[in-house]
Amino acid sequence: MRPNKNIGEWYHALSKDISMGGRVNIPRDMEEWPKSWKTVEYKHYKRCPSVPLLPLEQCRLVNPLTDTLFSRKSNRDFEERGYVMTHKVLSTFIANTISKTKGNYRIYPSGGARYPLEFYFFLKRSSDMALGIYHYNVEDHALTLLKGIEHIDLSSRPIHGYEWANHTAVDVFISAIFERNFRKYGERGYRYVMLEAGHVSQNFYLVSTALGLSSTAVAGVLDINVEDMLYLDGKYESLVHTFLLG
Ligand SMILES: Cc1cc2nc3c(=O)[nH]c(=O)nc-3n(C[C@H](O)[C@H](O)[C@H](O)COP(=O)(O)O)c2cc1C
Repeated sequence: MRPNKNIGEWYHALSKDISMGGRVNIPRDMEEWPKSWKTVEYKHYKRCPSVPLLPLEQCRLVNPLTDTLFSRKSNRDFEERGYVMTHKVLSTFIANTISKTKGNYRIYPSGGARYPLEFYFFLKRSSDMALGIYHYNVEDHALTLLKGIEHIDLSSRPIHGYEWANHTAVDVFISAIFERNFRKYGERGYRYVMLEAGHVSQNFYLVSTALGLSSTAVAGVLDINVEDMLYLDGKYESLVHTFLLG
């Protein structure tokens, strides 16, 4: 394999699995797997205030799927809408996109059920919740308030270059703890992280559409500024995708 034109092409070529029919040196017998390949890890911020979310039973969506699929589009009209988020709508959004289902499984698929993704919500406009940065505590289906909005100064460290994106109600940041995948899949695990973020993003698109919200995915963000804002080191845990709502 010859190094190619750019690092992405090179990575893709080198992470093609040609061993064991695509099983990446993973024994067929699960009994041989180390515990760390089967354990699902949850991130908690135990010292920060927790805000419980409404359970799925109170947040069911009944929109016909085909209508939702065909209405989905990337909208950037946040300023005109001036949407103000509520606890009920945010609960419905989260319950229908990233919450747990049975056991350790979730509403979105994950390669090997490794769940490398973490979710942060930057709440900028709300009528009934404190504004600031929250982490989604998947295990307890709750938001943890990491930082009040009064401690966030975007003027010196912008998180994107889009004027229209300053008017969202909520910015959702998807980060990844790559090690959760690498320890089982090696470097090929990077692919699975990105694919998983894509699955989640489509959930975000469809559920925001069903809720009548404007939304768009944005890859054009200033990763390091976002990571600093979220207290992420950018190595062990890094930003992988951003989704805007309003
Ligand atoms: C991975 C990804 C990254 C994107 N990044 C941006 C972005 O940085 N800025 C932006 O305005 N739109 C972004 N979009 C939205 C696309 O521009 C949009 O999906 C595309 O124009 C098709 O329009 P539609 O989503 O309305 O069908 C992104 C979409 C995806 C899937």
